Amino acid sequence: MGPDDARRILEQEVARAREVFGRAASLDDLERARIALLGRKAPLADVQRSLGSLGADDRKQVGQATNEARDTIGSLLEERRAVLLAADAGAAMEADRVDVTLPGRRNRPGSLHPLTITEYRITDIFMRMGYRVVDGPEIETEWYNFDALNIGPDHPARKVTDTLYLEGPGDLLLRTETSAMQIHTMESQPPPVYVVVPGRVFRRDTTDATHSPVFHQVEGLAIDEGISFAHLKGTLEAFAREMFGAEQRVRLTASYFPFVEPGAQVEVSCFICGGVGCQTCGNGWIEILGSGMVHPTVLENVGYDSERYTGFAFGMGIERIAILRHGIPDIRLFYENDVRFLQQFQAVG
Ligand code: DAH
Repeated sequence: MGPDDARRILEQEVARAREVFGRAASLDDLERARIALLGRKAPLADVQRSLGSLGADDRKQVGQATNEARDTIGSLLEERRAVLLAADAGAAMEADRVDVTLPGRRNRPGSLHPLTITEYRITDIFMRMGYRVVDGPEIETEWYNFDALNIGPDHPARKVTDTLYLEGPGDLLLRTETSAMQIHTMESQPPPVYVVVPGRVFRRDTTDATHSPVFHQVEGLAIDEGISFAHLKGTLEAFAREMFGAEQRVRLTASYFPFVEPGAQVEVSCFICGGVGCQTCGNGWIEILGSGMVHPTVLENVGYDSERYTGFAFGMGIERIAILRHGIPDIRLFYENDVRFLQQFQAVG
């Protein structure tokens, strides 16, 4: 190649470097471009190799031009490399970016089940009145669940269609009421007795919107010298007002349970219609619990002196109270563990 060819090539290569480096979008692209322009097979290398065949003057000039071209291409390369390196670092930072203005991820703490919340509310009210909370076995004998409570052998609740009896030796059954704990408690201590007993009970019922074969009750028992019906009335009215609101009207009406005499139902004025009468309550009153003066036979059954001691007992369904307080339309909601239902009750402890 002649000196003019060589000069033309050098010019072309500088122009090509400007263009090819400028187009390189990554460091890999740039490396390929470097090899094409400055590598051993590049036109620049050809020019270099042709220097030996030139005359002394041309060799000097073309040689110098070659060095200049190589330097120019080299600095174009470095310029572009710097740009690409900076972009790379920027991209890495962009990828690692943390948006400090985003809200943090929330903890989602669990909360108590609505039945537990209701149970605690009930027992808490009685604890403040001096009652002790106890619990007892879910498997009972006929004595504790029925006989000792003055529920005679022919009482309909004892039928196999109502009560879940266990197979095997003995007369074991799943307790149908927490009242059974009245007997255990009195057996285990002399009077005075002031206890409430929350717990699970079982009945042979088919599940529907208002029935469940497993549900919960709170039983209460107060035995002491000189306990009268006035104490029963005062205590249960105080409970009802505390539970459902001080503005509620409360009334007792006569009722029958074998283990009390006299027996009474406690009713509160309907929270839905305010006591005038509606679909829920019928006559303006809603029954919330059963109660009565403990039957002397029950006291005698545990060896208490029924001439000296008197007392009252009461029992209520936890589901029923929760349903009334919160307007829950279906008892099955308590047992399905659907968080959409459960998370509406956020009380803890
Ligand atoms: N044990 C009754 C029931 O399951 C509720 C009850 C009523 C308990 C009257 C009592 C009471 O202690 O005096 O329906």
